[in-house]
Amino acid sequence: MGISSLYIHFPFCRHLCNYCDFYKTRVESSDYRMAFNGFQSELTQSFAIHQHFLEQNDISWEPLETLYLGGGTPSLWGREGAEFLKSFLNANQLVLAENLEMTLEVNPGSWTEEGIKAFQKLGVNRYSLGVQALDSKMLGQLDRVHSLEDVHQTLGFFNKLKLNFSVDFMLGLPVIASYQRDIAAELEKIMSYNPPHLSLYILTPKGNYPHTEFLPENEQLEREYLEVSEFLEKRGYLHYEVSNFARPGRESRHNLKYWRSESVAALGPSATGYLADSRLRYKWKVSELEFVPEQLSEKEAKLENFYLRLRTFEGVILEEFFTSAELLKIAPIVSKWQRQGWCETRQNKLILRPSGYIRMDGLLEELFQYTNSL
Ligand SMILES: C[S@@+](CC[C@H](N)C(=O)[O-])C[C@H]1O[C@@H](n2cnc3c(N)ncnc32)[C@H](O)[C@@H]1O
Ligand code: SF4
Repeated sequence: MGISSLYIHFPFCRHLCNYCDFYKTRVESSDYRMAFNGFQSELTQSFAIHQHFLEQNDISWEPLETLYLGGGTPSLWGREGAEFLKSFLNANQLVLAENLEMTLEVNPGSWTEEGIKAFQKLGVNRYSLGVQALDSKMLGQLDRVHSLEDVHQTLGFFNKLKLNFSVDFMLGLPVIASYQRDIAAELEKIMSYNPPHLSLYILTPKGNYPHTEFLPENEQLEREYLEVSEFLEKRGYLHYEVSNFARPGRESRHNLKYWRSESVAALGPSATGYLADSRLRYKWKVSELEFVPEQLSEKEAKLENFYLRLRTFEGVILEEFFTSAELLKIAPIVSKWQRQGWCETRQNKLILRPSGYIRMDGLLEELFQYTNSL
């Protein structure tokens, strides 16, 4: 068996945003090199352990079709990071496929032109820009370290060089008294930079988030979500996954592998990998210096596969998941959803529409009342 996708988690940021629950550590610029060198040594050591782990599962590397550099803020890694990765890939005989998609997450205000050029040389051909909002008040609410000017400068740079980039955009931000966020105006500005892809996230803060009591109600969230979806679909973007929009052919191939429950290897703290054939999920635990595996049962893997597939425009073939008796019980529910405009059925497949994506958890709950298969 072979594996052809890899995620690497770079765990450092200049500043820790108050809503973020990803694995990361704040580092002062004076400490970058020391922190990054330590991380690079850990990657090198963990790769040997990962190799052993793959061998135990009878899996070998194939030329990489997708490589995703996420974080944290991997654009901070800069030229030295790109050069380290080049020798890391060579030393570990990881070959890049000709049709490779290599993505780098970039934060406004945390990248340099020199760094981007070095990553381009390495093979990066897709960038995910952490824009979040095009409104300085909202960036303040989000506790972002960069300014609105940084955002424009970043979008301008990637557009001018005609690079393949995606924009992260957030909804459900805290409501400020006597201030109305103008989402359509923000999107218009983003459109002027012509992004091939956009990811849309609804703020879901954890722990001690300071503005919890000012978060919008579900009805407002739904309105905002459908407003963005309609806006982007009208401009030729395909709403191809709950949180993702792409111009045709610009879908994220790496993320499609997750949604199709295909194998993706993962390195770096807290990054989650999946070996599809053995239904094995695993994570690098820094404190234990090992990969901690989690074996999914056949039923768990099937449920996850159903849920992930339903998140995308590819939809699910219900016959693959339910018995004939269950299908009979489900049919009226699916018809009702269709009448509401929440889904469509095409070539034997159930495919959610944007108004179905936003209420997906409720729909699944309703569906599972009538089945034992999942
Ligand atoms: C892995 S994060 C890191 C990207 C990059 N460091 C940044 O901040 O732009 C990827 C995206 O997840 C989204 N995100 C982070 N925390 C979130 C939260 N609590 N709720 C919803 N989306 C979140 C943001 O849009 C962010 O751009
Ligand atoms: S920069 Fe990104 S990864 Fe870092 S704390 Fe902020 S949202 Fe999280």
